[in-house]
Amino acid sequence: MATIIKNIGLLATPVGIVAQKGEGQGNIELVTNTYVVIKDGFIEEVGRSGTSRDWTGTGQDEIIDAQGLLVTPGLVDAHTHLLFSGWRQQELAFKLQGLSYLDILAKGGGILHTVEQTRKAAIDELVNQGVKSLDTMLAHGTTTCEVKSGYGLTAEDELKSLRAIRQLGQVHAVDVVPTFMGAHAVPVEYKGCSADYVRLVCEEMIPKVAREQLAEFCDVFCETGVFTVAESEQILECGKHHGLLPKIHAEEITALGGAELAGKVQAISAEHLIHATDNGLAAMAASEVIAVLLPGTSFYLGEPFARAKDMVDRGIAVAVASDFNPGSCPNESLQIPMNIACLKYRLTPEQVLTAVTLNGAAAVNRSRVTGSIEPGKQGDMVIWNAPDLNFLFYHWGVNQVKTVVKQGRQVIG
Ligand code: NIG
Ligand code: FE
Repeated sequence: MATIIKNIGLLATPVGIVAQKGEGQGNIELVTNTYVVIKDGFIEEVGRSGTSRDWTGTGQDEIIDAQGLLVTPGLVDAHTHLLFSGWRQQELAFKLQGLSYLDILAKGGGILHTVEQTRKAAIDELVNQGVKSLDTMLAHGTTTCEVKSGYGLTAEDELKSLRAIRQLGQVHAVDVVPTFMGAHAVPVEYKGCSADYVRLVCEEMIPKVAREQLAEFCDVFCETGVFTVAESEQILECGKHHGLLPKIHAEEITALGGAELAGKVQAISAEHLIHATDNGLAAMAASEVIAVLLPGTSFYLGEPFARAKDMVDRGIAVAVASDFNPGSCPNESLQIPMNIACLKYRLTPEQVLTAVTLNGAAAVNRSRVTGSIEPGKQGDMVIWNAPDLNFLFYHWGVNQVKTVVKQGRQVIG
């Protein structure tokens, strides 16, 4: 079946099947007054500028009228923790009293509160809540989404979470990419003996996850008071040995050396990087590690903003993601992070567009199939209530999606 998106005022897309870095980060192809043809879910043809025409009577199955508006690739959210039970609105009061994120975690709250609730939840409850979050994401333009486990922290509960994530991918239009993050926190029952917990992650969880093919990546929270650099290395190397590509939560709250480790283990991505040092960035650049930046989390935790421009200048490919989770960033939409990335990182709209499409896709190993509007890729696109890129990044705080097309099907709008 063919779908035509006609009457596109401006089509804006990065180009290619790998992450764009350096000057390439801001290279966006712009096509005016054009159309796109999608066949059996994949893009067949992208018109040239000025070739917009009326397709009525051409026998095509579905014609979507973009009404002269902006069209971009569907957004790829490369970092989320959306599979959980246990929102944490009670922590707002702690925050207002001046308690930090790590203070709350040390008191047994934070991630550990959500862990308690997630352990109690049946798999169906987790799937149902996940579907709601994915619905919100799709309505805000996200067509591919990475989802991390990490609120189970026992072998059984991590497997339950990853099975729920697999079901989400089966029932929802959004493409779901699974990451194992058993090393998200040291659970209360292992308090003070993190080495034993690391052993459990490596000897039991990772082999089981790999055997059931429940995840593509292995992530770890490398942070003061959570997992040390040495523990993180042990976990990521073990994941690699079992076929899981390494990702790492690095330098989110303190500068511990996670970025250097990302370079050393040749991680596909290092994420957060708020406090990354020059050495860390050099190690990442040398190993072509993608920086997944999470500006919504800096805003929500009252932390500084990552040095995104420095990263681009050093030739590190930058992706921007939501970090959606119940603690440090309870927001499913990628649109506010896009605005913040522009205004606080001072990246251009073109650089941010690459960050939330092609580079996000590369960070989850999907840049061959999505992340740009080119023949051969999936027909994943957003029609925005905006005439051009500047408008999309200047207007903020409201949902600017008009229509979402996923693999050629109009799923929103
Ligand atoms: O990316 N830092 C660890 N994980 C999440 C927060 C998860 C939570 O607070 O529930 C993050 O910030
Ligand atoms: Fe995170």
